[in-house]
Amino acid sequence: MSDKKIVVLVSGRGTNLQALIEATQGGYIPGEISLVISDNPQALALEQARKASISTLVLDYNIFPHKRAYEDALLQVLEKENPHLICLAGYMRIVGKKIIARFQGRIMNIHPSLLPAFPGLEAQKQALDYGVKVSGCTVHLVDEGMDTGPIILQASCPVEDEDTVESLSERILRYEHQIYPQAVKLFLEDKLSVVGRRVFIKKG
Ligand code: GRF
Repeated sequence: MSDKKIVVLVSGRGTNLQALIEATQGGYIPGEISLVISDNPQALALEQARKASISTLVLDYNIFPHKRAYEDALLQVLEKENPHLICLAGYMRIVGKKIIARFQGRIMNIHPSLLPAFPGLEAQKQALDYGVKVSGCTVHLVDEGMDTGPIILQASCPVEDEDTVESLSERILRYEHQIYPQAVKLFLEDKLSVVGRRVFIKKG
């Protein structure tokens, strides 16, 4: 097994985590998830990790006096773990500057819209409210902004007249579960090169 370590940060349900677990344990991604960290002790994602025999850590955001203290604790854990890649998978916090600086270019996120459209919360509702006919999802590197980092992969899907937030979210999620493992695989195979805002995929 490859020794390339991935740490996944979660806050909730964990379907993207599950997709990453299957892709690593199934051998599609050349690396292993060494640790799943949640800021929320109730996150269902923790259960998925435990079922897959992956170490988990809860850093309950609410027990920290302020964001800086939480971020310092998280940074300490990440430094000790020293992963090749940190994946945000339904992680509901903005990653702090220190962590981004320390793991520059090594933090990825999945977002349920075609960025730069509809960053932030409730992206699928934003897409429906705006009236777009096509939406999708984006895997991107994380910078200090809100869903603003260089784009690695995107997938699109139609928005149907009958769609609700739930039905659109579900359709987009199917694509999330495909492109997130693809992006992680490309990263760990050293097939990505970043030039300014553009991410190129090396051939071969
Ligand atoms: C996904 O839609 C992801 O794009 C967004 O948060 C949601 C997390 O879902 N960042 P899950 O916890 O992976 O099921």
